[in-house]
Amino acid sequence: MPSPSDLVAQDFETLYHNHLLPYGDAEVSEEFLKQITELMSAHIIKSNNRDEKVLNFVYPEKLEKFFKDYKITEKPLSLQKIIDDCKMIMELSVKTAHPRCFNQLFSGLDWVSLAGECITAACNTSMYTYEMAPAFNCLEKLTIDKMASLCGWTEPCDGLFNPGGSISNLYSVQAAMNYYFPNVKQEGCYGMPKMIAFTSKHCHYSMQRAVVILGLGTNSLRQVPVDERGRMIPEELEKLVLACKEKNEVPFFVNCTSGTTVVGAYDPIEEVNKICKKYNMWLHIDAAWGGGALLSKKHKHLLKGIEEADSVTWNPHKMMGVINQCSAFLCKKKDILAKCNKMNASYLFQQDKLYDVSYDSGDKTLQCGRHVDVLKCWLMWRSKGDIGFENHINHLFSLADLLYKEVKARDNFEAVFDNPQCTNVCFWYIPKSLQHLDRTSTEFKEKIHKIAPKIKAEMMLKGSMMMSYQPLDTKPNFFRMVFNNYGTRNEDVLFLLDEIERLGKDL
Ligand SMILES: Cc1ncc(COP(=O)(O)O)c(C=O)c1O
Repeated sequence: MPSPSDLVAQDFETLYHNHLLPYGDAEVSEEFLKQITELMSAHIIKSNNRDEKVLNFVYPEKLEKFFKDYKITEKPLSLQKIIDDCKMIMELSVKTAHPRCFNQLFSGLDWVSLAGECITAACNTSMYTYEMAPAFNCLEKLTIDKMASLCGWTEPCDGLFNPGGSISNLYSVQAAMNYYFPNVKQEGCYGMPKMIAFTSKHCHYSMQRAVVILGLGTNSLRQVPVDERGRMIPEELEKLVLACKEKNEVPFFVNCTSGTTVVGAYDPIEEVNKICKKYNMWLHIDAAWGGGALLSKKHKHLLKGIEEADSVTWNPHKMMGVINQCSAFLCKKKDILAKCNKMNASYLFQQDKLYDVSYDSGDKTLQCGRHVDVLKCWLMWRSKGDIGFENHINHLFSLADLLYKEVKARDNFEAVFDNPQCTNVCFWYIPKSLQHLDRTSTEFKEKIHKIAPKIKAEMMLKGSMMMSYQPLDTKPNFFRMVFNNYGTRNEDVLFLLDEIERLGKDL
């Protein structure tokens, strides 16, 4: 009877879960992981190949049927089957590392960041206490401080890595509520004045979620009109603040978005800050998307005034290309998060530990266990250095500039907004059949509204690329192109416009 290690690499068909550590054999375990690592590498290398499809789209009903053969069974399956499952899952997944995957505000795949995520998984711990995650808690502080210094914050601050910008934004409203209304933790919203928050009309929907979750309700979030480039109009903000004061409501919070989700607008922080100071309101900057510009000397002016903010959301998993999910919440008021969330669970946060318990980050969070999100960010940043990130960000902005110029130069394309601020470029493709129509007519609007979804469907079925579209305010469906993949090149910019023409010319 061969020992499991004799079978290594030859026959995973006859090896099972119990041949792995802790019951089984170290060599089998190692070989299993090697094979999985090879699969991962092959997937990423394939994803970087422009001749490969971005996705193999399968309709959900068909995929659901397919998975009927992959039920969890009573009896164990061989390790070979598990390796085959991994292969199958990767084949069915969108290649988000592909240089032509433009669908979301994240893409690309950084090898060092991947190493960080793998090491994180191998360490398999939770952030809540220093005793369980000593290095990670120190790294979190270090990285938060680095990000705060890029915001121009000079004093030590507080902060956390969170499962997404939506959660970071939720923290911002929670912190502001507890700062201005210290009894809110005990009393909830009962007996409080009507607390009002402000944000631009084009903010991310997580701001609405935040006021819903915190019991304020959507009517407590006032939407400030935006200018022709999607930026909050400070004068309109002040009007809304005054209107709410007249009704004895209490304005307490303003969110400025730095890089709006669709248009990529940067709200004017300095002007908004003046209004915040005048009326004693918390200033939050949602730089989940556009915060990456802080890494570039050329583009950081877009966030001028962020040094005055009370809190910031910044997602390294978006423009910086750190592996999902990685969102930082920075907060200038050092003790407010603990004030909001401290529950003193005595089984976890004992006060008489052998070390300084202020290193236990868990009791200031909304969670109990918390994933380690810092390593993949810190490690990647160390490997690129500030210089590497500066080049990375400048490259993305230059791709957007090229696309905008091409859109302006081509007859069949029309820009939705002039001079984009971020790496978002929004445009319509206008096929020949619609060229003769008056752009303001209902007929044109109805017809152009259907063009982007049709082209998007074609590109998904073909697998050539992926990008997003949406209507906005009164504007019919348009394409939203975003650059966040360092691997995307000028040739991809030209490809995407040519491909849209190829797919849409007969519509
Ligand atoms: C401006 C902005 N804020 C917040 C978020 C939410 O971030 P997450 O998807 O990490 O929750 C997004 C997501 O696209 C965003 O664009």
